[in-house]
Amino acid sequence: MKLFDLRGKVAVVSGAAQGLGRATALALAECGADAMLVDRNLAGAEATAEQIREMGRRATASACDVSDPDAIVAFFRQVDHEYGRVDFLGNIAGDGHLARPEDLTVADLHKVLQNLVVGRFSMCQEAGRRMLAQGRGSIMNIGSLASTTALGRGHIAYSMAMGAVIQMTRELSTEWSCRGVRVNCVTPAQVVNPSLEARMKDDPGLEGRFLSGIPIGRLGRPEDIQGLAVLLASDASAWITGAIIPMDGGNTAMNAGGTPGHQGTAVQQFRGT
Ligand SMILES: NC(=O)c1ccc[n+]([C@@H]2O[C@H](COP(=O)([O-])OP(=O)(O)OC[C@H]3O[C@@H](n4cnc5c(N)ncnc54)[C@H](O)[C@@H]3O)[C@@H](O)[C@H]2O)c1
Repeated sequence: MKLFDLRGKVAVVSGAAQGLGRATALALAECGADAMLVDRNLAGAEATAEQIREMGRRATASACDVSDPDAIVAFFRQVDHEYGRVDFLGNIAGDGHLARPEDLTVADLHKVLQNLVVGRFSMCQEAGRRMLAQGRGSIMNIGSLASTTALGRGHIAYSMAMGAVIQMTRELSTEWSCRGVRVNCVTPAQVVNPSLEARMKDDPGLEGRFLSGIPIGRLGRPEDIQGLAVLLASDASAWITGAIIPMDGGNTAMNAGGTPGHQGTAVQQFRGT
């Protein structure tokens, strides 16, 4: 469909070795985009690039660390050299750090802010400068449920950082959308990945607690981002900017001003019928 056609566009996608980044890169390529992939796991990013090349698109992998602004500047020079333009940024890679508020060290807090706030900003800035010069472009930042709601369980640093990603998105959208650059933020709830699987293995009750907050009745899968990524990269979303878009199986709607314990019970009863 022409509205979703990404042929001739160049996408930069971070975290492309696995999970949400890989799923994003593959979906964009399926709709026609060429891709410059970033992941500190170069072998993983290269495997995704190979899959994209098999679809007949161009793809290159880079081991750029997205928490290092100097490395990001160098990476975008490589994009200029190899592709000459950037139409879409999937700003996805980034780590948190779990610690109770009373135990979190300032050094670890700085690391998380560097990774998720400064790193995401530097990616936006470098991509945005090029998009502004082109007069068009689209950025999809990945936030989290933790951008808008407290998770507990040691997520203090992650939540502080992800909250900032939302405000960064709104500010960038406000400054750039009149110059052709749209900036949106997707806020996923729990999407299965290796670290989530490890945490669910350590705490056998955790998956059930997650599910009690997800009315759709299952955890997210990396592929769940594919439709949104294509929408935001394409002209189909030409008037969507500054939006915070939940990708959460209904979690945000369900907990909006409610009492999770009560609602969780209701969902379990519903599933039992
Ligand atoms: N999975 C979830 O439940 C969930 C929910 C909300 C938000 N998020 C956020 O979405 C993003 C992706 O999540 P995912 O589930 O795909 O994670 P994942 O762990 O499956 O994949 C992350 C990828 O990013 C790469 N990466 C991490 N830090 C990097 C860095 N500094 N430089 C370069 N590459 C780096 C990793 O090597 C890995 O390939 C993360 O920022 C995460 O916090 C995830």
